[in-house]
Amino acid sequence: MDWVREIWSFATCGELIFGRNSIQRVAKVIEKLGGKNILVLTDPMIRDAGLLKLIEKPLGDLSISFAVYDQGMVEPTIEKVLECAEFAKKGIYDVIVCFGGGSIIDLGKATAVLMTHGRHPHDYFGEGKVPGPVKPILAVPTTAGTGSEVSPAAILTDVKANLKKGISDNHLRPRAVIVDPLLTLSCPPNVTAATGIDVLAHAIESYLAIHFAYLPLSPGEENTVLYHGSYPLTECLAGKAIELVSQNLRLAVDQGKNLEARTNMAMANIMAGMAFSNSGVTAVHAMAYPLGASSHAPHGVVNGLLLPHVMEFNLPVRIKELAAVAKALGENVDGLSLREAAFKSIPAVSALIRDIGLPTRMRDIGVKEKDIRPMAEATMQVTRLLRSNPRRVSVESLEEIYKRAF
Ligand SMILES: [Fe+2]
Repeated sequence: MDWVREIWSFATCGELIFGRNSIQRVAKVIEKLGGKNILVLTDPMIRDAGLLKLIEKPLGDLSISFAVYDQGMVEPTIEKVLECAEFAKKGIYDVIVCFGGGSIIDLGKATAVLMTHGRHPHDYFGEGKVPGPVKPILAVPTTAGTGSEVSPAAILTDVKANLKKGISDNHLRPRAVIVDPLLTLSCPPNVTAATGIDVLAHAIESYLAIHFAYLPLSPGEENTVLYHGSYPLTECLAGKAIELVSQNLRLAVDQGKNLEARTNMAMANIMAGMAFSNSGVTAVHAMAYPLGASSHAPHGVVNGLLLPHVMEFNLPVRIKELAAVAKALGENVDGLSLREAAFKSIPAVSALIRDIGLPTRMRDIGVKEKDIRPMAEATMQVTRLLRSNPRRVSVESLEEIYKRAF
């Protein structure tokens, strides 16, 4: 049947509290969520930096009891989730506070699923597999990247399969988020660069995602689909996020204490997260799954590396949008045709990646040419993300994109 979608929907986190020193509201927010016994998740770096007192003190002042699990890790494994869920069994917790980067938020989401519904992470991989609401999550991000604080996804590493896998369900969107840009001031330059490029990838991929009317869906998926393709609301958020990243990321990397740049990056992250977690992404994030698993390079680094090449691949079907991306990136497009303007977006992204010191070729992060075909084949399995790519892909076309990035 020839059929064009006419309906989209938008979901995000619950309450979002944004601004310098907003961390001071943490105990009040927990009270509003009905929290009396709190599980705080964090990692050893945050603990050692002494940041935990920003949460422990206000909780103590309101006599809210809490336990701290501080063994979070970067890009959490399935085993780490099981360990954290085991820890959570020691108490009866009513709110989970995720204090850290996107990895901690993802760990908290997956742990919340197990705390509420039991079973194993394997039972929930994919879209819409979580049977009901989970324990309320309050996310307090300390980096400006991943967008996990507003998204429905928890990305885990399956060590045995050497793959990234995602639990994606609207029940996983945090009930409250506190974004305090002051918490990102101590984020080191390499992490700021990698997470910042992840924000740019989210924004550009959301902007270029297939128009929602043409998202290819199987029968019955209309009511459950989370990523709808792009529509005016996601375009608006993504376009502004691209502008903010292009104007602030170099500064945030070079001048870690530049509060204005940090605040704008924190805002860009939220906007890009709201955009991509409703529109979906392009092939960049899908191709990053096997590339991240085989290279062990950070999520943002692999996305940055792939981004210009996937933009080029998608150019034939997204000329008008890429011309707008070029403009949002600060390129002068006056007097150019749309096609000429669209082409300017690609070197503009490459220049930003170079300027902030991230690798630009797969060979520089230890990938071998023989890995390319298996990675292209593995990407074809990531249908949840691939279907919002605006141009249809094949193993051969993915292989070609990887080769260009090699
Ligand atoms: Fe990402």
